[in-house]
Parts: sequence; C-alpha cells; structure tokens
Amino acid sequence: MNKIITILFTLFISACNSKEDLRVDLHSFSEPHHVVTTHLDLDVEVDFEKEIISGKARYEIKNLTGHNQLVLDVNGLEIDKVTIDNKVSSFQLGYQDSILGQPLIIDVDEDTKAVSIFYKTGAEAKALQWLNPKQTAGKKYPFLFTQSQAILARTWLPCQDSPGVRFSYTAKVKVPKDLLAIMSAENPTEKITDGEYKFKMNQAVPAYLMALGVGDLVFESLGEQTGVYAEPSVIKKASYEFSETQKMLEIAEMMYGKYAWDRYDMLVLPPSFPFGGMENPRLTFVTPTILAGDRSLTSLVAHELAHSWSGNLVTNKTWDDFWLNEGFTVYFERRIMEKLEGREYADMLSLLGKQDLEHEVSALGHSHKDTHLKLDLSGRDPDDGFTDIAYEKGFFLLRLIEETVGRKQFDFFLKKYFTTHAFKVIDTEAFVTYINNNLLNSQPKLKEKIRLEEWIYSSGIPDNCPKVNSIKFDAVEGAIKSFLKGYPLENIKTQGWSSHEWLHFLRHLPKDLDRNDLQKLDQAFGFTSSGNSEVLNAWFQLTIPSGYMQADKDLEGFLLTVGRRKFLKPLYEALYKKDPEKAKRIYKKARDNYHTVTIQTLDAIVL
Ligand code: BES
Ligand code: ZN
Repeated sequence: MNKIITILFTLFISACNSKEDLRVDLHSFSEPHHVVTTHLDLDVEVDFEKEIISGKARYEIKNLTGHNQLVLDVNGLEIDKVTIDNKVSSFQLGYQDSILGQPLIIDVDEDTKAVSIFYKTGAEAKALQWLNPKQTAGKKYPFLFTQSQAILARTWLPCQDSPGVRFSYTAKVKVPKDLLAIMSAENPTEKITDGEYKFKMNQAVPAYLMALGVGDLVFESLGEQTGVYAEPSVIKKASYEFSETQKMLEIAEMMYGKYAWDRYDMLVLPPSFPFGGMENPRLTFVTPTILAGDRSLTSLVAHELAHSWSGNLVTNKTWDDFWLNEGFTVYFERRIMEKLEGREYADMLSLLGKQDLEHEVSALGHSHKDTHLKLDLSGRDPDDGFTDIAYEKGFFLLRLIEETVGRKQFDFFLKKYFTTHAFKVIDTEAFVTYINNNLLNSQPKLKEKIRLEEWIYSSGIPDNCPKVNSIKFDAVEGAIKSFLKGYPLENIKTQGWSSHEWLHFLRHLPKDLDRNDLQKLDQAFGFTSSGNSEVLNAWFQLTIPSGYMQADKDLEGFLLTVGRRKFLKPLYEALYKKDPEKAKRIYKKARDNYHTVTIQTLDAIVL
C-alpha cells in the first residue's frame, strides 16, 4: 500500500512539476544540483531525561542555479522555526514517506548564504539509541549513540542526506556533566566539567558519516595517531585487543596513499550496538563483541580503517552502488590482514567470506536481482537490500581482477583510483568506464577473462570466481573426518587453532548431530563457555536445532545482551523454526534492549 502511495505521489509531483527531476539519489528528497549545503554549524543539547536532542543546525549553502528553494531531508523531526540572517523565514514540510521521511523546503533567494533550522528530535528517532545505565558496562550512567548509515542521519538532524553531498562541520554539544561527548570529528580526550563540548571537522563528509557518542568514557592512546575510547571497565581489554591499530594504519598508507583524516580513534559501544563496526570518520564505532581477549577478531578494525579510503574518501554515489564502499573495503581489509598476519591467515578470511557469499546467494536465490552488485533499491529501505553480496561478491570480483592483471598493476590502479576520486562520489557505471580506460582496455585478452559486466549486472556467482585454498582449513576438515570416524576427541590435533579455524570446524560439522555428539564436543572444546562471539554464534547454530539444552541458558543470555544484527538474525531464525513460542518469549524480553535497525529485521522474523 505504501509503495502505491509513494508511486502515486511521485507521479503527482512530477505532473505538477513541469521541471525534470534531476535527483540522482532516490533515497533523498534534497536537490543538491540546485542548492547545496557546504558547511554545518551544529549547536545542540542532549537531554537524557526526555530522550531528545534539540537545538540549531546552521548551514552555509551554495546556490548553483539561482533556485528559490533549499531542500533538506528530515524524518520525525519537530521543526520549531527557520531563520535567515536572524529573521524568521518561511518553510514547508512535504509529504511524509514511511521510509524516506519528509522534504523540508526552505525559501531562499540567490544571495542567501546561510540558513538556520531550530529543531528537536522525535520520540522515534531511528538513528538514536538511548541506553539506561543497566545497559552499559559500568551500570551507573546512561549512554547515547547515533547510527546514521544509510538514511538515518535525517532522524537526528536536518540535512541533505545523500552520499553525494559533503559538508564540513563544527558542533557544540551540551551533555550532562558526568559524561563525555565525542563525534566523527576532532575530539577531546577528557571530560569537561561544564559538559559543553566543541568539535570541528575540517574535511567534508556526507551526512551518513555524522556520528555522536555520549557516555561515561575514557581514552587510551594506541599509537601516534590512534587511540580508543571506552567505558572505564572496558578500556584495558579494548586497548589490548586493538594494540595493532597504528601498524594497520601504516600498512594501509603504504598500499593506497596517505591517510586523509589525521587521527584514527575507535569508540567501543555497549553490546546493543547493532553492527560490528561503523566507519565514522576519525572515530570508528565498534561492538564490544569483538573483544575476544586474543586479538582474533581484529580484521574488523582493518575493515573500518580501510573505509577511510573506500567509502569515506571515495564514496558510493547512491545506495545502489553500495558494493563500491563495501566490496573494496573487504578487499582492502584482507590485504591489510595479509601484511599483518600472513597469506594463510588472509586466505582463511577469504574462504569464510566465500562461504558467506554462497550462503547468501542460495538464501536469496541464484537468479535474484539482489545478487547483482549494482542494486536497484528504488522504493525500498536501502537497509533491506544490503546483504553479503556487496561485501563478498564485491571482494571476489576485485580479487579476480587482481589475479588476472597481477597484484602490482592492480595496486597501482587502486592507488590512482583513490587519489583521483578523493572526496568525491562515484557510481558503478563511472567505475566501469574508469577501470576500462585505466586498466583493462589496453589488455583486451585479460579484460575478456574477467567479464566485469557479468559480475556487476548479472545474478549469482560467475563461474570464473577465484578459488581460494587454505592449508589450515584442510587440516580442520581432516579433524572433522576423524571425529566422524569416531576417533577420541582428545587425540584430534586442535592446538593453536585460531577462532577462524574453529568457525570453519563448526560450520562444517554435519547439521544433524545429536545431543550426545554435541555434548562430547562441548566437553572437549568448551564451546558453550567460549568468550569468542563468532564461535559462540556458530555453536548455537548447531545446538538450537538439535535441542541441546545445556547451551540454552547461555544462548538466552547472549540474546538478552547482544544487539548485533548479524548474530541475532540467524539465531532467531533458527530458534523460531525449532520452537516459535520460545523465540517469541525471549524476543519479548530482549526487544527493548535492541536498536531500531535490529528490531526492524527481527520483527519480521519473530512477530
Ligand atoms: N558500513 C558498515 C556498516 C553498515 C552498513 C551500517 C550498512 C549501516 C548500513 C560497516 O563498515 C560494516 O561493514 N560492518 C560490518 C563488519 C565488517 C567487518 C564486515 C558489520 O557491522 O558486521
Ligand atoms: Zn564496511
């Protein structure tokens, strides 16, 4: 129904408007080709009692066509007034779309230089998660974090919420006295007694990279340009886990050019954070579920760091081009990990990635359009169309190009790609033209081998997808065979296995193991009490269908604390299939602890 209304509305608007719709991004109402925002001065107060952010967003604008309207995106914001040169100015709020929110249309003239919007966030601001003290590690202070990607920035500040619109910013943020506020900007490292924090972001960023975190936080340096923020009881564990960050940054710079953002810090969030990581510039947000105690899950840091080039520097033009952000980042992440840990380590990551890809393609269906790299998300919430395809099919395409033209040539090309498109957007079509002109056209035989267009515009996994071999995983498969033949578990060599090997092991055990088998495995290897969230997640995938009750308590504990969607989605799916009533009972208890993006996904499974 909503879809029909949207279509009718769009038809109606285009009929009224004799002018052509020049918007390139159908997930934003803004019209940056007419009037574009170039700089933001944000001045807001964070009210934990009312769970509201309120204040003023002042934008400097550039009127490119002498147009009489500035159009911003808002979703659920209450607009108190708009001023231009301190005078109240007229504005309108357009039709409310259930996915996109509303256009905020402000009358301007050719000479208008800046516009101020006075606003409050609404009760259901999807970007915001307000946590009560119980949901934090310290249990004493509340916590707030934002998640703007893909189209949620508009739920906490009015903005031209399209990846193609970049603006620099300053911000004044007032928070309760005992808390520290930090942003995707130059940050303080200590609390200020009056709770009034000032931020500056000189490099222009798209709205989806706007971020704010507020909590009882402390900072620890990790290296010259790197550091970590976390709650006091988490900081030591975090700084141990992330001690290789500075080295990662130096490796990345050596490969693809200078780091463009000065500092690289991380903020460790409470466990309800819906993602593994979010590449907010200068301040990556990460889940505490990667604090495994043995640095085994830090490829996620390499991933978010790599976004400083692929994504934050060279940005996908629309969400249909999401693979340009994520596929490049996975490729870059694995190159960093290869330099840091060796080829065999990186091969394990690639093989696990291949498994994710195959799983995703069969879940969607081999001929499903969402298995194309170039997506068509029109009329949909981009979040619903984001899958492992962008990540892993994207990775394997880049790996294929690397293997075909040779690493040296490909690295040279990538470095030039990042330099040429720095602080710009690129779409899939422009990328195809660019790589053809700069790498492939001069080598027609190699170009033919790659079949770039098939990878991008067709479904499934092309048959020239690179094969990855892993000696380490071969050994794991040997161990599984021994177990299935009935060899005593204590004789099977698992010493020195990393969590990747354990993951491969768990993923490749037969799906129909009975409770006795699982008990033997658990006794020998202690899966239920694993401190590694990836291992635990793969383990629960086996225990749920078999009804192995000994893991139930820990499973419930996991579901009640962790909000990371990547884990919760398959777990609730499995639980619902096995025992819908139980799934509903646990979900009912846990739901309040989850972020809206997780809730949106899980409601569709459990409710
Ligand atoms: N940018 C993404 C997270 C994201 C994607 C948020 C789409 C909202 C919409 C981030 O870089 C990411 O990919 N995170 C992954 C971890 C990564 C190691 C694959 C995650 O959160 O699981
Ligand atoms: Zn990513």
